[in-house]
Amino acid sequence: MLPFQRDIHPRCLEILTEHSRCVWRKAEALARASRYADAVDYEFLREASMLHDYGIVGVDAPGIYCFGTAPYLCHGVLGARHLREVDGVRYARHARVCEVHIGTGLTSEDVVRGGLPLEVRDYLPETLEEKLITYADNFFSKNPASLCEEKPWARVCESIGRHGEGALERLRVLRGLFEGTC
Ligand SMILES: [Fe+2]
Repeated sequence: MLPFQRDIHPRCLEILTEHSRCVWRKAEALARASRYADAVDYEFLREASMLHDYGIVGVDAPGIYCFGTAPYLCHGVLGARHLREVDGVRYARHARVCEVHIGTGLTSEDVVRGGLPLEVRDYLPETLEEKLITYADNFFSKNPASLCEEKPWARVCESIGRHGEGALERLRVLRGLFEGTC
């Protein structure tokens, strides 16, 4: 399933696979219970969920067995770049998910204001599948001790709230889309 499995530390692969599976299950459950149930590409949702964090293999995060050099924040663009290198047509939509799923997405203003190590542009989820995976991802950490423990809504808000009111508002909009409440 993962195009670069051989380059990944075995523990990182376990964490990545388990985390991604949790995100997939939540994204699929949200989709099927939502008003968009008939419009979602479920096979793509599964594939993209399993690949969305692939870029962590290139970051410096030894706590989750990632021994690359890039800042953690770069895992989205790194994953997208790798997927496009493997097959830019086959993985075009998957690469987009990698790029836009960080937090609730990032605006060019977020990149500038935060001095983030990214090209200045928007990284915002647009399609249903991008939004589902981005939203579902916020409920799970990659902490090996609590991989598939779903975070309560208050903790999700607390984490996203640290990145400003814009990020929190995007979270509320995503919740409204898929859970019918803000
Ligand atoms: Fe994730």
